[in-house]
Amino acid sequence: MPQPSQAEGHVQDTANAVLPAPRTPRPRDAPALNWGVMAPGGIAASFVEALRAHTEQRVVAVGSRDLRRARAFADRFGIPAAYGSYAEVLHDQDVDIVYVASPHSGHFEQALAAIEAGRHVLVEKAFTRNADEAERLIAAARERGVFLMEAMWTRFLPHMDVVRQVLETGLLGEVHTVMADHGLPAKPDAGHRLFAPELAGGALLDLGVYPVSFASMVLGPFASVTAVGTKAFTGVDGQVSVVATNAGGAHAVLNTTLFGRTPTTASISGTRARLEIDGPFYAPAAVRLIGPDHEVLDSFVPPRLNGGLCYEAAEAARCAAAGALESELMPLAETLSVMRVLDGIRGDLGITYPGESRPPSTPLGAAPGCAPSTPSSQGVHPLHVL
Ligand SMILES: NC(=O)c1ccc[n+]([C@@H]2O[C@H](COP(=O)([O-])OP(=O)(O)OC[C@H]3O[C@@H](n4cnc5c(N)ncnc54)[C@H](OP(=O)(O)O)[C@@H]3O)[C@@H](O)[C@H]2O)c1
Repeated sequence: MPQPSQAEGHVQDTANAVLPAPRTPRPRDAPALNWGVMAPGGIAASFVEALRAHTEQRVVAVGSRDLRRARAFADRFGIPAAYGSYAEVLHDQDVDIVYVASPHSGHFEQALAAIEAGRHVLVEKAFTRNADEAERLIAAARERGVFLMEAMWTRFLPHMDVVRQVLETGLLGEVHTVMADHGLPAKPDAGHRLFAPELAGGALLDLGVYPVSFASMVLGPFASVTAVGTKAFTGVDGQVSVVATNAGGAHAVLNTTLFGRTPTTASISGTRARLEIDGPFYAPAAVRLIGPDHEVLDSFVPPRLNGGLCYEAAEAARCAAAGALESELMPLAETLSVMRVLDGIRGDLGITYPGESRPPSTPLGAAPGCAPSTPSSQGVHPLHVL
């Protein structure tokens, strides 16, 4: 009788495979902390709504550059204290932990002030404008002994715990390929933060950080990065495509764009099986385990939930209450390594933000400086980061 081929053996290995259940703790069980919100914009509203709906966390203060906006936000959500500056949030002795929800350009300064005031800090993604700022924030938090975390909310969602367990158990075999994208058609508006160079706008820091961070979680640190980019009309990056490798030679193929609605799906392909995550992969999403003949072996469908930001808040509260200085799910070293990748890409595309404390490093072979352009040869630069 002929022996089964290795490939047939793999089919048998995965035929009865099932996806593990997520181990994510209930957000409502996290210790209740007193939160102060800096910058009451769109995501701050979603964050406070999620906390109110799904956790025991208390939002006790909000600070805006304009007291009227702070008061309006406080009235909307029943927050007891409203301040007309971010600094005043830090003078409020009731505040245990600060959520920094300003545009990227403000993250470093506001998070640093919170750290120096002895507060734990959750900083919206992208963590900072560049790796230099990230490194300085991390050093400051460690010195002051406070908890610090990038609000990469995707990490803390239940379906990502399913993904991590699948990777830990080797269910996919050897992983060779990761694909992910995040793109949306942003209305060209020079006044919007997405297109504003001075606010560190652009596709990469706003949207591209999701696929880059996802690939980093799956593959570990990148050993090389090759990217091409096209600038938007204001000079920020409008679209970037990236091929990265890890030390083992696995590839990540990633895209981000402000020019169109992309699938926003993600996949991880191994020698035995593939995981597919529905779009948007960075929000609560279904995960499918796919066998070698494209057959669906098992699926995980998360419970319907409006308010996925509750999971990151619960993780921050659990860690800070336990005296941890960082989260194991989103370690500061990995946040820094992701910022270095984003720096490398920007360095090659010649994109610096006005007021950046230090420009991003320019990788080997880079061609710094390019004019805003259409997707032609102008504004499209390959790069190699080793
Ligand atoms: N996790 C997610 O799903 C998600 C989704 C969207 C955005 N984000 C992140 O959240 C952050 C904020 O994004 P957003 O969409 O909430 O932005 P937004 O709606 O424009 O709100 C940002 C707020 O920052 C304050 N701000 C401080 N300096 C500013 C300046 N120079 N120009 C404009 N506003 C300034 C403003 O509040 P005051 O003037 O009242 O202080 C403004 O309301 C970014 O880091 C972004 O990447 C995360």
